[in-house]
Amino acid sequence: MTLSTSHELPIPPFEMRELVGPTDVAEFGNPTKKPILGLDEAHLDSVLDFGCGCGRLARQMMMQHARPGRYVGFDLHRGMVRWCQENLSPHAPEFVFVHHDVDNMSFNPGAEKPAILPMPAEDRAFSLMIAMSVFTHTIEGHAEYYLKEVSRVLRDDGLLVASFFLFDKQYFPMMQGFQNALYINLDDPWSAVILDRGWLELTLRALGLGIVRAQAPGVRGHQWLLHIRSVAAGEPFITLPEDEGPFGRILAPISRADPSTIK
Ligand SMILES: C[S@@+](CC[C@H](N)C(=O)[O-])C[C@H]1O[C@@H](n2cnc3c(N)ncnc32)[C@H](O)[C@@H]1O
Repeated sequence: MTLSTSHELPIPPFEMRELVGPTDVAEFGNPTKKPILGLDEAHLDSVLDFGCGCGRLARQMMMQHARPGRYVGFDLHRGMVRWCQENLSPHAPEFVFVHHDVDNMSFNPGAEKPAILPMPAEDRAFSLMIAMSVFTHTIEGHAEYYLKEVSRVLRDDGLLVASFFLFDKQYFPMMQGFQNALYINLDDPWSAVILDRGWLELTLRALGLGIVRAQAPGVRGHQWLLHIRSVAAGEPFITLPEDEGPFGRILAPISRADPSTIK
């Protein structure tokens, strides 16, 4: 199959780019055509993209010299998934996009919808799962559920690359044992979820998973980028280092439009 060039691949509309964060078109490109996120080609054999949004990473992977053999992206925002199905899959039929129809008050409202659903993936089928800026919007119980799903769908040698907002609960003595997340928005708890780092490490350990690489946030308290693998992969787990980045502000977006109405 011939590779699509970047200008053949459509760019998602501005209001969708705004929903996922970066609006700059360059953030959706891959001029070097190298594997994304500095990964080895071997990792990109079969890719599951949790919270694929409007296909930012899928689009970059489509531009790689060596594309994944299989890609499944899923997201709870129906409009963005439809956009990817209609605009990206025709350029690369091995890229499949699935609507994950769970209730989300801003992006996919519906009290009748389930709060969580299994990932659209077979057991131990994927060499790589990506979850960029997704666990940062996943409330504690749902984060635990989806981490369990990670342990189900990743191959023994598989890798999860995911970003997290993390805090240290030992500085918050009022928090109960079952309270392991901070929420910044009373009206929409999903808008930013900050998980306790100790809770994350223990939760992963209980699932036979652990952190093998950690990139601390560029601004203290912002997103960590973690590489997570199974015990079976044989790579030693690490303890998270301290967050000693410079202080700064990177504000959580407050969307101007009703996100669920963006088609
Ligand atoms: C900040 S955006 C990032 C999108 C994409 N990962 C990227 O880096 O461009 C977060 C995405 O996660 C999706 N999302 C959040 N929680 C989800 C869930 N429980 N299931 C599926 N998608 C989810 C949102 O709909 C949104 O598209």
